[in-house]
Amino acid sequence: MTTAIVAEAIAAAKARFGLTGARAAWQGPGPVTTHAHHDVPDHLLLAGNPERFGVRVVDGEVHVEGTSVAAIAEAVDTPCYVYGAAHVRRQFAGLRGALIGRRSLVCYAVKANSSQAILRLLAREGAGADIVSGGELARALAAGFAPSTIVFSGVGKRSDEIDAAITAQIRAIHAESIEEVDRIAARARALGVVAPVALRVNPDIDPDTHPYLATGLRETKFGISMGDAPALARRVIETPGLRLVGLTCHIGSQIMDAEPFLASLERMRALIGELGDAIDLDYLDLGGGLGIPYGVDEPRLDVDAFGAALVAATRDLDMDLLLEPGRYLVGNAGVLLTRVVGHKESGGKRFVIVDAAMNDLIRPALYEAYHAIVPATLPVADAPLVRSDVVGPVCECGDFFARDRLLPWPAVGDLLVILGAGAYGMTMASNYNTRPLAPEVLVSGERFDVTRPRRPVAELIAEERYPAWMADPAT
Ligand code: LLP
Repeated sequence: MTTAIVAEAIAAAKARFGLTGARAAWQGPGPVTTHAHHDVPDHLLLAGNPERFGVRVVDGEVHVEGTSVAAIAEAVDTPCYVYGAAHVRRQFAGLRGALIGRRSLVCYAVKANSSQAILRLLAREGAGADIVSGGELARALAAGFAPSTIVFSGVGKRSDEIDAAITAQIRAIHAESIEEVDRIAARARALGVVAPVALRVNPDIDPDTHPYLATGLRETKFGISMGDAPALARRVIETPGLRLVGLTCHIGSQIMDAEPFLASLERMRALIGELGDAIDLDYLDLGGGLGIPYGVDEPRLDVDAFGAALVAATRDLDMDLLLEPGRYLVGNAGVLLTRVVGHKESGGKRFVIVDAAMNDLIRPALYEAYHAIVPATLPVADAPLVRSDVVGPVCECGDFFARDRLLPWPAVGDLLVILGAGAYGMTMASNYNTRPLAPEVLVSGERFDVTRPRRPVAELIAEERYPAWMADPAT
């Protein structure tokens, strides 16, 4: 019965949006854009569609909302992250709107960008939060998310993190194994309360994304296998100290095609059917993973079509639908500003060396991810173009932002804008090479505020300690 409804919804979606098979792209080509050779420079393509990257071009100058990035770089120095509040709001409103008519909660995946200002902005818009650590719990609570809208995902939770989540009375802890179920139960009993638990099931769906980002395959470390789920659900129900409130899954990230979500929905619904009426769930959580365009010529996910298909396929489901998007809400709300520090020609290649590095934005190094790069001042139409690598100063070959990219040749001191840096940029940054974390700036219209200042290196050094035997000048 359930399966028939879903099959019907999928068929309707296919008919409406022209899907032709399990792997048919809903919206154009595959999700992962790597360092392919592009024959058109990013800035020329950007001119046609800047707003999808959260930027505008005013008199040839790149702006975030009403503020020129050059003015921000002048005030804050580079490298520096800049986020636009309006883009985050727009993405959130678009997704909420797409789910109209469905009882749902959009839980922002805090790991994508955990800037307190971004968190507070989303909390005020009505988002919930998807957290993966005690640290993110503290951030979400500090930013103002209601505990009843926070869900706790993650494959390895420590007992103190479980305690903190139970004590904060969050909506549910997402359990990933039988052992974890037992541990949550023990902690709940020790605290004298009943803990709400949802089971994270691994639906074994291949979302056709970068292998590091495909978390819903059977052989990954994530979730409970479909086969084990019914027995484990019954165990949760029978265990004193636990209340089974939901089922959850997350199939991967940067998915541009709605079909994997519908396929995983179908499997989750089959599981709900198998559990039967005796089990009364508050919610079904389909995880995050909605993709965004990174290349300036990439199509974007049709969020209205995505939402309509989910709403149709869950019409008869008497529970909340949760989603955990991270990247979709913030990815194209952010840019990384960097200045050119020099050039180099060697080994038959050209290099533009900039003052941002892999410690600031690791996505190109880690996934060979494509990030469009444009000059902050767009060049005149016939400016000479040069194919070059854009690299940082860190002593690793992986320290690059672009390879063989066609760019207007920048001068030393020129400001470059790395687009699509709002998600998994700052949150994956490190102090490698004793480089302080880049400051963060939030723009709202014509005003901008530094929401995290750059820490002086002296502070990084001062937070460390010498062992006593080393501190003593006599030894
Ligand atoms: N829910 C769970 C359980 C997750 O593991 C993730 C992401 C999300 C939600 C949010 O996924 P999103 O909507 O942002 O795709 N560092 C990588 C992405 C890793 C994603 C990990 N999990 C990158 O830079 O592309």
